[in-house]
Amino acid sequence: MSLRNGKEFLMIPGPTNVPEEVLRAMHRPAVDIYEGPLLETTDYCMAGLKRLFQTEGKTYIYAANGHGAWDAAICNTLNRGDKILVLESGRFALGWGEAAATAGLNVEILPGDQDKGVDPVKLEERLRQDSTHEIAAILVVQVDTASGVWNDIAALRRTIDAAGHPALYMVDTIASLGCMPFEMDAWGVDVALTGSQKGLMCPPGLSFVAAGPKADCAHKTADLRTNYTDWTFRQGTEHYQKYCGTPPEHLLFGFRKSLELLFGEGLEQVWQRHALLGEATRRAVETWSSEGAVQFNISDPSARSNSVTVVRFEEGDAAALRDFTKQTCGVTVGGTIGELSGKGIRIAHMGHVNAVMLLGTLSAVELGFKKLGIPHGAGGVQGAIDYLAEAL
Ligand SMILES: Cc1ncc(COP(=O)(O)O)c(C=O)c1O
Repeated sequence: MSLRNGKEFLMIPGPTNVPEEVLRAMHRPAVDIYEGPLLETTDYCMAGLKRLFQTEGKTYIYAANGHGAWDAAICNTLNRGDKILVLESGRFALGWGEAAATAGLNVEILPGDQDKGVDPVKLEERLRQDSTHEIAAILVVQVDTASGVWNDIAALRRTIDAAGHPALYMVDTIASLGCMPFEMDAWGVDVALTGSQKGLMCPPGLSFVAAGPKADCAHKTADLRTNYTDWTFRQGTEHYQKYCGTPPEHLLFGFRKSLELLFGEGLEQVWQRHALLGEATRRAVETWSSEGAVQFNISDPSARSNSVTVVRFEEGDAAALRDFTKQTCGVTVGGTIGELSGKGIRIAHMGHVNAVMLLGTLSAVELGFKKLGIPHGAGGVQGAIDYLAEAL
C-alpha cells in the first residue's frame, strides 16, 4: 500500500524545492539580451548578491554549477604551481582541491575527519610552519553537505590572523548561503562562492562568486585565468561581457524572484527559520539516537549545520528506508555520499522549507524506522514538536 499521492517533498541537500513564484518567473518568452528588462535584472541580481554575501566586493554570475564557481575562484586568483591548503571536513573541500589540482595547483590537504569541523589548532600549527608563506590560498567550506558539518568561518579567519599568514581565504557557501549567516567582509573572506540550487531556491545552473580587494589584486597577476571565468573581461562595460556570452536569461529571471522572496522574508528571518527547523531535526535525531542504531554524524553539537543533518545507522538498511519514505510516503530524503555512502541518510532543511514539510519528513523517517525494524529511540517527532512549541 502506498500513501504517496499528494504533494511530494524533495528533502535532499540540493537541488531543493523551487517555489512556484520562481518557476512562474521563468515561464516567459525569451527577451533581447542587449536592452530591456534583462539589463535591469542583472543589476538587481548583482546588487542582491552583494547583500547576500554581505560584501562591497565585486560579484560574478556564471552559467555553471558549483564546480564552475570553484574553477572561477581559483583560476582568477592563482598561478600554476602555487601551493594551496585545503581544509578537510567532509567531501566537498576535497572536491574543490581536486579541481584545483586539475587546474595546475599544488594541493595540500589539512587532514580532518568526516564527523568534525576544521580544527583551528591544527590549522594554526600548519600555517606557523609555513614561515616563507608558500601557501597562496586556504580553501574551506562553510557547510559540508556530505558530513553535515558547519565550520566557523569567522573563527578560522582569526586563526589565520593569529598565525600572521597572508594567504587568500576562500570559502564555499554552496550549502549555507541563504540558510545561515555569512558576512564576507566582516569575516575577512577574500573569495566567496555559492550555487543557485540550495538555500537560494533556484534550479541548478547558476553559480556566483564574490571577490574582495585582496583577491582583485591577486587577479592582476594570476596566470591560470580562463576566457570564460575571467573577471577582467566580465567587468567590461557591455552587458554581454558580464556572462561572457549569452546570459542564461530564464535562470536569471528565476534567481531575481528568489532574491525578492529572500529579501521579502528578511535574511535574519530566513536564518531563524533554518535555525528552528535545524534544531527541530536535531531534537528528533537526539531521541532516535538515545537507543538503537541511529546516530548523528557530527559529534560536536555546535558544529552541526542548520541546512542539513546527516544521520548514520549502525545497523539497518538506509537504502530501504529512503525507498520507503519516497515510495510509500512521498518524501525523498538524501542518501549519504563519499565515505559515508550507504551508511545513513541526509535530511535537508534548506531553502524553501516550512514546518509542515520538515515535520512531515521526520514523521515519514520515524514511520520508516518502525516499519523496517531499524532500532531507534521512539518519540523523535514528539521531541521536534516539543522544541518548536517552546521556541515559537
Ligand atoms: C558544499 C558544496 N560544495 C560544492 C558542491 C558542488 O556543487 P555542484 O554539484 O553544483 O557542482 C556541492 C554540491 O552538493 C556542495 O554541497
